[in-house]
Amino acid sequence: MIRIGLIGFGYWGPNLARNVAENLSCELVAICEQVPERRARAQRRYPTTRVVAEPRELFAAPDIDACIIATPVSTHAELALEALESGKHILVEKPLAPSTSDCQRIIELADKKGLLVAVGHTFMYHPAVRKIQRDAAAGELGDILSFNSVRTNLGLFQGDYNVLWDLAVHDLSMLFHIVPQRPQAVSAAGLAHFPGHPEESAYLTLWLDKGCLAHLHVSWFSPLKIRQCIVGGSKKMVVYDDLNASEKVKIYDCGVTSKHSSSQRLKLEIDYRSGDMVAPCIENREPLSIEIEDFVLSILDKKKPTSDGAFALRIVEVLEAADRSLRRQGMPIELR
Ligand SMILES: NC(=O)c1ccc[n+]([C@@H]2O[C@H](COP(=O)([O-])OP(=O)(O)OC[C@H]3O[C@@H](n4cnc5c(N)ncnc54)[C@H](O)[C@@H]3O)[C@@H](O)[C@H]2O)c1
Repeated sequence: MIRIGLIGFGYWGPNLARNVAENLSCELVAICEQVPERRARAQRRYPTTRVVAEPRELFAAPDIDACIIATPVSTHAELALEALESGKHILVEKPLAPSTSDCQRIIELADKKGLLVAVGHTFMYHPAVRKIQRDAAAGELGDILSFNSVRTNLGLFQGDYNVLWDLAVHDLSMLFHIVPQRPQAVSAAGLAHFPGHPEESAYLTLWLDKGCLAHLHVSWFSPLKIRQCIVGGSKKMVVYDDLNASEKVKIYDCGVTSKHSSSQRLKLEIDYRSGDMVAPCIENREPLSIEIEDFVLSILDKKKPTSDGAFALRIVEVLEAADRSLRRQGMPIELR
């Protein structure tokens, strides 16, 4: 049984608390929240759980094995490092930290202490994404040539971080989970129309090894809520629409093959293949419950979680490079 302390009971924290409370392999021992009204709400909802105001009360508690950090990103590094120093495993909400150097410090300290770092890249645990990842890894889609995603709506503007750090994080986690190729370069263009606020809309392009091109469009300033992702494979193509309740994933057995030709009549040498479309049955399970299960089992079985520190670092590397590109009107930035 893993005994858990949760820090942050704002928007996302209550979802984590519910999933921890429902998991039979862990126990929600304490909740820490600095706003009194939210502490009162937490206590009403979890009467037998300790509710405190100071994270250090969790770090010092001998009856807590692991901390979940669901506070704003600017606070992640400090809280994560303190938790690790106190000997607690951590699950940090996405993104892991506001800089690659902070991510590296967290990963190094966890390694030194023999503790586990998991990161809340919830979409990696979505049954639809897991199905696409399994098909891609099994070679069913062929070579992945393109990845296009759109994540827009009239969303909550975050004060200090642009929309890439809030929304593109999800699509980057899906991209790197489905297409495990290193990004070579990144370009980002964005719009910041509201004084004092960072970019509320952005277009991100990534060039990956083996020729895959990824394009992500994210926005808090759109009349339409869209959550769509298209994965283009050389054998099959997949459309994932998170808002489609009954057919979230559609796999199209279609594509184009060009026969080897050195002639100028290349157009005549192209074959179009348009086969069946299949909408597979997708398990109806909350991604967050799978994420919590993975965190707890990883601690118990001493294994790496699906979304570990190294994976999260790669995403922060891209976000940092994207910020540099944004300041240079989309100039591609090479990634090491
Ligand atoms: N995985 C997902 O799908 C998902 C969705 C939403 C948010 N998030 C992530 O969750 C994190 C929190 O986002 P949110 O929208 O819930 O923010 P929020 O501002 O609504 O909630 C954060 C809470 O943390 C509390 N807090 C901050 N510092 C604290 C401290 N030192 N001690 C105790 N309490 C403290 C705040 O009072 C607040 O109640 C962010 O990293 C965000 O990116 C993830």
